[in-house]
Amino acid sequence: MTLALNNIGHLVTNDPSIGNGPLGIINNAGLVADDEGNIVWCGPQDQIDQYTEAQPISCDGCAIIPGFVDSHTHIVFAGDRAAEFEARMEGLPYAAGGIQSTMLATRAASDELLSLNAQHLAYEALSSGTTTLEVKSGYGLSVRDEERSMRIARSITTETTFLGAHLYPTDVEQEHYVDLVVGDMLNACLPHAKWIDVFCDRGAFDVDQSREILKAGAKAGLGTRIHANQLQRGGGVQLGVELGVASCDHCTHLTEKDIEALSSANKTTVATLLPAAELCTRSPFPHARHMIEQGVTVALATDCNPGSSYTTSMPFVMSLAVILMGMTPDQALWSSTQGGAQALRRTDVGNLCAGSRADLVVLDAPSHIHLAYRPGVNQTRAVVRGGKCVVGSL
Ligand code: NIG
Ligand code: FE
Repeated sequence: MTLALNNIGHLVTNDPSIGNGPLGIINNAGLVADDEGNIVWCGPQDQIDQYTEAQPISCDGCAIIPGFVDSHTHIVFAGDRAAEFEARMEGLPYAAGGIQSTMLATRAASDELLSLNAQHLAYEALSSGTTTLEVKSGYGLSVRDEERSMRIARSITTETTFLGAHLYPTDVEQEHYVDLVVGDMLNACLPHAKWIDVFCDRGAFDVDQSREILKAGAKAGLGTRIHANQLQRGGGVQLGVELGVASCDHCTHLTEKDIEALSSANKTTVATLLPAAELCTRSPFPHARHMIEQGVTVALATDCNPGSSYTTSMPFVMSLAVILMGMTPDQALWSSTQGGAQALRRTDVGNLCAGSRADLVVLDAPSHIHLAYRPGVNQTRAVVRGGKCVVGSL
């Protein structure tokens, strides 16, 4: 069925050619989608009759934004790390080793439990407006457990990432583990994967190992992305740029040289910032505004995982980005939608232009600024995916 909306007080299209400013904002707007879930038109509401015969649904002056594109999550896991969080809040530092405890719980869980947990988190994300979700493996760390993690991820989304190189499991010799990742594990996960990722950092994989793993994934036909410079300065970002990965994620500890590299690669490689991870690990926040001013393309994502960032809320991430990382509300909105799409090399989501997917959020708010302005408040009135209302009501 066709979807026709009018009385949209403030429509963010992310297309400067059809609206005001860099976000292409249209006030008093209408929007029409076809029965395949693609946008046919958006523009001033008094023109809507030219594009549909359907009776439009009034949005009562609410704001509409493109659905969020969360390009970085680790939602296939079992177990709970609340005690680790509690200890950290009492003063213990965050370290990559906590991944091991989630690995043990994940290996012990049934497919059904893993699937239910992931579905629950995916629905939580959808409820707050995330209409495109990337999901990684990385808590199985054996051929069997990475394969089933990827299979479960693929049942939730097409944006699936093989992260066998998340940490060395204690039951395999380190020098053999990289061979396993690029050999049997990659082969087993390949049918379910679109991307390959590696945690290139202290306590995880070094630059040479990360290069080998990403190259093997690329050779097998996967897109590449990297966890880089989360725990310390290092060669992760430079490696990501060298390999032309779609996204360098975290970027917590950057040198000016790293920023220059990201800026020179800004059409190819996005810097995906994950401020909820900095918040929950009490780490310094990267200076997003400075990065953007230097010409870096910045995306925002949740990094939802049980260790460093247990949130699915993109509106909350936007608040952090604006209040603690120096982004303007406009930049945060762009980075959470179009920026995320670019990090996944997608053009059909992250914007509301003719031909794109009708994935959008109707906000109980007069503008997108309220997303950052009202931290932690659910302002989602309805979520539409592929032209269908999937959360709330229109
Ligand atoms: O992105 N950095 C590596 N992986 C996750 C954390 C994983 C965990 O602590 O369980 C991250 O922050
Ligand atoms: Fe991550």
